[in-house]
Amino acid sequence: MKKKNFCLGIESTAHTFAVSIIDKNCKILAEEKKMFTTKKGGIIPKELSEHHYKIAPKILENALKKSGKKINEIDLIAFSQGPGIGNALRVGANIARQLSLLNNIPLIGVNHCIAHIEIGRKICNANDPVLLYASGANTQIICYENNYYRVFGETLDTGIGNFLDTFGRKLGIGFPAGPKLDELYFKGKELLELPYTVKGMDLAFSGLLTSATKKYEEILLEKISKKDKEQKINNLIYSTLHNAFAMLTEVTERALAHTEKKQVILGGGVGCSKALQEMVEKMCKERKAKLFVPPNNVMTDNAIMIAWLGILMKKNNNKTNINQSKIKPKQRTDDIKINWRNNLIKKGNI
Ligand code: FE2
Repeated sequence: MKKKNFCLGIESTAHTFAVSIIDKNCKILAEEKKMFTTKKGGIIPKELSEHHYKIAPKILENALKKSGKKINEIDLIAFSQGPGIGNALRVGANIARQLSLLNNIPLIGVNHCIAHIEIGRKICNANDPVLLYASGANTQIICYENNYYRVFGETLDTGIGNFLDTFGRKLGIGFPAGPKLDELYFKGKELLELPYTVKGMDLAFSGLLTSATKKYEEILLEKISKKDKEQKINNLIYSTLHNAFAMLTEVTERALAHTEKKQVILGGGVGCSKALQEMVEKMCKERKAKLFVPPNNVMTDNAIMIAWLGILMKKNNNKTNINQSKIKPKQRTDDIKINWRNNLIKKGNI
């Protein structure tokens, strides 16, 4: 059978297990995913891996069926090798290795954060943006310089998404809490005084979380009408998100100023927040920079970006042998040498 340069990508760094099949031009043939959710509480790693192992065969089968391809028509298996939750990463890596070995298909392990950048660049046609990567576990402001995606600023404690989920959990909102909090943000009418922590180019959320939680408990004890209480809680949500997003926007603006780049792109599930988008858009306008907001299906965790980065890396002679395919839960964005950005990518086979 003639090889057509199809890549099957597997994403499993955290709550989402996804399989996607794309061609060498990033045309999406199939995109299947399922997210682990809870009504109460957060992610328990053991439950997460059980969820992923349970749904993986069906997701894989559906992706192949939708793409109209058989496994022997796939030319490359790409999987997220890191960073992420070990229990979750292991599921994707195991399946990728098995598919590779059983069908004699080359394997490539990719960095999840860099995959967010590359899919954003491809889909939005953004050639050299500052990435504001805001997700559950990851909060980084990243720019390309001298063969590396350099981290200009990052969280010193928790990721912005985990911060929002923890805050949401205190308020009795299930996981993920971000979309509901974003909706309530727009109902806020008053900006309350809360911590705002930017240290150099880095940021921290724990002081804001402690303070917002304390204020919430005080509102619960107030003897006021239900309607007034609701409004006070909405004001608190508005103020908490306002400070958190303003911190992200400030560091992104500083990265723009330092690098003199003129583009910003959002990545990660929190990038879907309308409140965050509004704030970053305003900053970009003032700096005469352009904001790119990729579609939600590639801003949240997905396997399209894993497959696409696999293709870019393979074209530039990167590969992952089985004995190099160990998961890397703590892999950093700036650990990876980038050899596909300035090189002329040869057209043709993967
Ligand atoms: Fe992500």
